[in-house]
Amino acid sequence: MTIDKEYGNLEEHPCVVAFAAILCLLLFGFTMHDMKRPEYLPEFWVKLPAVEGLERGTGASRPPTFNITLRVNNRDSEPWHFKGPGRVVVAYAGVPLAHADLAEFTVPGEVISSVPIVATSSGLGLPDELYDRMQSQRRRRERVKLAVHVTLDGVRLWCTAILHGQPRGPFVCPILYGPTFDRTDPRQMMFPII
Ligand SMILES: *[C@@H]1O[C@H](CO)[C@@H](O)[C@H](O)[C@H]1NC(C)=O
Repeated sequence: MTIDKEYGNLEEHPCVVAFAAILCLLLFGFTMHDMKRPEYLPEFWVKLPAVEGLERGTGASRPPTFNITLRVNNRDSEPWHFKGPGRVVVAYAGVPLAHADLAEFTVPGEVISSVPIVATSSGLGLPDELYDRMQSQRRRRERVKLAVHVTLDGVRLWCTAILHGQPRGPFVCPILYGPTFDRTDPRQMMFPII
């Protein structure tokens, strides 16, 4: 009979027990870490106080420019420091229209701060097709939804703003965790909106 000998029992293998215990502790630790993350991140909203340059691209004289207010609600008692740099992309119908870099900022504990952002583009106006699509949405009195995506320290805020309309917001931004978003990958720039 060799099986008992081969497998033995756990008391004869303190290393196995110790290894399993350490593994459990590590897994538990990671789980707790993940569960805690949302509490340590503030709550975010965006508002869109002003928009300029949404002109038909042919003959446009200005780039599309979006004045955005990022509201940051730090519910923690400790200050929240964003060490930067971050990135903001405004997209319509999945096409990025404007972007901005986000510099570092700090929100004191239990404070709601506003971070002003001006997102713009090097091109003038909107591609004709997008302009027409936006105009036809307006004619039908549909909400013109813009996606405002903010990349901060490896998380992405998946914000929505409504152009020239009600409700004016602010809209709380869902937070996406995940692998660090690569700002140079052009596929990351294409954000379909609903
Ligand atoms: C947008 O923000 C910039 C910078 O704060 C400001 O100069 C500009 O007047 C704003 N645009 C509008 C239309 O309010």
